[in-house]
Amino acid sequence: MIKIAPSILSSDFARLGQEVAAVQAAGADWIHVDVMDGHFVPNLTIGPPVVKALRPITELPLDCHLMISNPDEFIDDFVAAGADWVSVHVETCTHLNRTLGRIRELGAKAGVSLNPHTPPEAISWVLEHVDYVLVMSVNPGFSGQAFIPEMIDKVAVLSDMITEMELEVLIQVDGGIDATTVGDMYAAGARCFVSGSYLFGHPGGYAAAVDELRAKAEAG
Ligand code: DX5
Ligand code: ZN
Repeated sequence: MIKIAPSILSSDFARLGQEVAAVQAAGADWIHVDVMDGHFVPNLTIGPPVVKALRPITELPLDCHLMISNPDEFIDDFVAAGADWVSVHVETCTHLNRTLGRIRELGAKAGVSLNPHTPPEAISWVLEHVDYVLVMSVNPGFSGQAFIPEMIDKVAVLSDMITEMELEVLIQVDGGIDATTVGDMYAAGARCFVSGSYLFGHPGGYAAAVDELRAKAEAG
């Protein structure tokens, strides 16, 4: 039920293949790929060629978080490269239904991401057409930022909306997720937990980090 999704943004890019293999061996459920364009967010990271290179080396789902201004121009490339789950930011999509529909048409799971200031109501009319909602608990752009605690209540509101609409939509949280924040997010309704700096920087290693996140979530 709980999904732990290491964000490779915090991994050693010079050893990316080994890092992905290592978090898979450590018990991770998904690989979270942060795609940044230097426009929607103030950082530049990964594109479809890197996703294509990772595809043959892991069986885990590749979850591409598109923090880019023009997702419609790149969705096909990411799915062709091997993305299984693709999320787009509501703040970047003028025709969100069309964008989500295209992701599903390509055979991938469709998600919508919300910046911290964006209310859950912004997506109430597309919730029936998504597989997951990504609630950002930092302003996107970098790993290692401080968790925004108000996002716990936001997840709870979103979770209630999903329940009232009798939908099966996974809530993913991303940003500042660690042993101290994961439990509150689980209690609020999140079930997929992205972790970058906490997981890759854990002194006990990746398996200890994955186990700890899972245990603390369940305890929450
Ligand atoms: C932030 C990214 C996150 C980030 C998480 O823009 O979307 O996935 O890498 O890193 P931590 O867990 O360090 O906040
Ligand atoms: Zn992310």
